[in-house]
Amino acid sequence: YFIGIDLGTSAVKLLLMDEKGTIHRVVSKEYPLYFPHPGWSEQNPKDWYEKTLEGIRELTEGVEKREVAGIGCGGQMHGLVVLDGCDQVIRPAILWNDGRTAKQTEYLNQVIGKETLSKYTANIAFAGFTAPKLLWMQEEEPEHFAKIAKIMLPKDYLSYRLSGVHCTDYSDASGMLLLDVEHKCWSKEMMEICHVREEQLPKLFESYEAVGTLKPRLAKELGLSDQVKIVAGAGDNAAAAVGTGTVGDGRCNISLGTSGTIFISSRTFGVDRHNALHSFAHADGYYHLMGCMLSAAACNKWWMEEILKTVDYGAEQEKICRLGENHVYYLPYLMGERSPHNDPDARACFIGMSMDTTREEMTQAVLEGVAFALRDSLEVAKSLGVQLTRTRICGGGAKSTLWKQIIANVMSLKVDMIESEEGPGLGGAMLAAVGCGVFASVEEAAGKLVRVVDTIEPEPELVEKYARHYEKFQKFYPALKGLF
Ligand code: XUL
Repeated sequence: YFIGIDLGTSAVKLLLMDEKGTIHRVVSKEYPLYFPHPGWSEQNPKDWYEKTLEGIRELTEGVEKREVAGIGCGGQMHGLVVLDGCDQVIRPAILWNDGRTAKQTEYLNQVIGKETLSKYTANIAFAGFTAPKLLWMQEEEPEHFAKIAKIMLPKDYLSYRLSGVHCTDYSDASGMLLLDVEHKCWSKEMMEICHVREEQLPKLFESYEAVGTLKPRLAKELGLSDQVKIVAGAGDNAAAAVGTGTVGDGRCNISLGTSGTIFISSRTFGVDRHNALHSFAHADGYYHLMGCMLSAAACNKWWMEEILKTVDYGAEQEKICRLGENHVYYLPYLMGERSPHNDPDARACFIGMSMDTTREEMTQAVLEGVAFALRDSLEVAKSLGVQLTRTRICGGGAKSTLWKQIIANVMSLKVDMIESEEGPGLGGAMLAAVGCGVFASVEEAAGKLVRVVDTIEPEPELVEKYARHYEKFQKFYPALKGLF
């Protein structure tokens, strides 16, 4: 067996997969997310670890525990986890959707300069990236900054606790703005700019490489073998791409999780000259481009649970019947926006209500607003010459057929569904299987294990209607930008 871990923002999801790709069990454990100030977002690494151990126990209950051969994790990206010289977490982790670093991001992009950053790392600074967080900590919490012995990303904290190895992988490291993505090494210049030393940074691995084995004491406690291999794992988007078979050249995956991403795999390294899409390493050993919106399924959750006070999403969506006719628009910037606007101050809004506007239209507007915002990134990719006709899809939001239909029509893409929506968890388990030698490469694992089970086709008439709506949507952010 292989254990795949998806260390998400709302919960850790674990799955147990065998060599044939059959998923035997899925377990999910929630933990709190803290917003100590508007636009800030934090979590306690200890919660991740404890819930993961709880999850592993539940996942392996009643199965032949000694048969577990490997563990791989796909984790929320960019979060800053810092440990002191005694391996204690110095402060809560500052997450990928935290917007406190507007000033540091501006310094990096304007004073160091976008061109220079892009030369060193293949990317520019975005508020959620790790490097601006280090600068923030140095300025705002110098006593914490001075204590840093180890810097790591969320899933690397798990790997560290499980194996004792301070490591990361290229896909996740790409989102730190400290990695020279093209050459796959830490950038000396960026370390200098951020005042960090290489010994504070994790050792770099390919996602499918084993970094070590489960600590003997922990293995005993969990009833697992101490030969269980821990692979480096990947950022959750790269892991999700593996889980949906989005590997090799020119394939696309959309993830509808707390964040929304459009992920385009590539065998060759390339940089977005508009600086809107991220240019990162992929978990298959190659590269990818990615647009990331900060609140995707999070918008729907907020609308359903905080505003409509319901958890029956299906019942609300069932009432929607007029696709392409909605006069209400929704801008999904609950936590500011990353791609393509790079604006931590942007905020969400509904636009276009009238006296006869209904609850259903507003629910529909939320789903459409997220699809339009994903199209913003797709348009950037198109302008770089990327040609796509289809995409795969995963994440909690992908459970909704209606949302997938809207996406197919707004983006004019065929949407392929995979047997399992467990993108990052499945990808993590597949990486573990590669690390244990079951498959020679990630591409081979994807080829053998991932199957498309259904496809949603865009409907020409709706594509046309949504194209007109999108034209309007595109004009809202520039018009409102100065007011946020
Ligand atoms: C990607 C990003 C998000 C998180 C979500 O750049 O910030 O997709 O990885 O967990």
